[in-house]
Amino acid sequence: MRAVQRRIGHEAARGAALSYPPPAGGGRNGAVENDSPGAERFISRSLASVPASGIRKFFDLLSTIDDVISLGVGEPDYVTPEPIRRAALESIEKGETHYTSNYGLLELREALSEEIETLYGVSYDPATEIVVTSGSSEAFDIALRSLIDDGDEVLCPDPSYVAYEPAVIMAKGRFRPVPTTAEHEFRLLASDVSERVTEQTKALLFGYPANPTGATMDRASLEAVAEVAAANDLAVISDELYARLTYEGEHTCFSSIEGMRDRTILIGGFSKTYAMTGWRIGWLAAPAPLAEAAMKVHQYVMMSAPTAAQYAALAALRQGESFVQEMLAEYDRRRRLMVDGLHAVGLPAFRPRGAFYAFPDIRPTGLDSTTFSERLLAEERVAVVPGSAFGACGEGFVRACYASGYEQIERALERIGRFVQRNR
Ligand SMILES: Cc1ncc(COP(=O)(O)O)c(C=O)c1O
Repeated sequence: MRAVQRRIGHEAARGAALSYPPPAGGGRNGAVENDSPGAERFISRSLASVPASGIRKFFDLLSTIDDVISLGVGEPDYVTPEPIRRAALESIEKGETHYTSNYGLLELREALSEEIETLYGVSYDPATEIVVTSGSSEAFDIALRSLIDDGDEVLCPDPSYVAYEPAVIMAKGRFRPVPTTAEHEFRLLASDVSERVTEQTKALLFGYPANPTGATMDRASLEAVAEVAAANDLAVISDELYARLTYEGEHTCFSSIEGMRDRTILIGGFSKTYAMTGWRIGWLAAPAPLAEAAMKVHQYVMMSAPTAAQYAALAALRQGESFVQEMLAEYDRRRRLMVDGLHAVGLPAFRPRGAFYAFPDIRPTGLDSTTFSERLLAEERVAVVPGSAFGACGEGFVRACYASGYEQIERALERIGRFVQRNR
């Protein structure tokens, strides 16, 4: 099997080493200097209420320090496999440089429809029920904007992906976190969802396998959530970006659960499965009226997803499987190293069954997650992300991404071990 090419010098290209903490005004990617005091008055109140990303601040800091082992960034260390890159280049050389249909290339939608049907047994009409988007990020943004009226509530697991809350707020909805805990391996419990439903609740938004916890949901747990959705007539946005990165158990597609297809906007993408984060390509699938509504937003804000990326995505579906299997096996090897290593250094971590994140409990050190992450970075030059960046229930944990080299993870674990030893 062809070896998957690794990213070279992933962390090597960081900016020149500066002092820690970074100088005022930020480093290369630091906080923007305010040369125009007062200009903020023009910014909308609703945007001003969106919290700045805890992750972004952390990476700004990280970019100012040399020789850091980063377990922080949530993206594959692999370069996009060669046949996928070649397909994009060929499309450009052939002059395929125009907009596509707003829904996306029909050939790609047909291939997606076939893939979803083969993997999960749910069928979507490629002509009317699939929209190709600029990353799954755009997919959940337009899904929310097409469902939410001012003040509608959206229930979402806490902790969860950093962009969900801002996306809900920017759609003028109200974000309502549903706590999840390590005790239940960060699964969303139907009873917790049910307790938080109000007259204003319009939708549920969740993503399993999960960022930042690596949690997965078994079919029975999803069925219980489905019952709550049906009983309260909720729409569901199911972000299944990490579906193919499932190491234990089978992934259950939410819309494959009886009665759920008609109320679900299913979301997927290429970024993680095929190491294509920079291509900005993803999709949503939904019953025709919901797909059309989301497409209406997409049409006016995006026109169509990048054309070369759509050709690359088509090649990924047609020729990418051996690469997916190869990367999956390697992530699994790293997952075991990471989880066993964290336990060995005294940080209990539940065994993540999907995605590529471990979410160790750092409470044995007595530090909160921000202090832990900042000091680990300053003292041992290992970057992890504070769990609090993903919601209040993430406090007491940090996110460590194992989509970086095996040896890097080994070295990081040694450094984390030293740090924990000093802070017991
Ligand atoms: C759960 C989840 N959804 C969506 C995204 C966005 O991915 P993209 O827009 O690259 O498809 C991410 C990225 O980390 C994620 O973790």
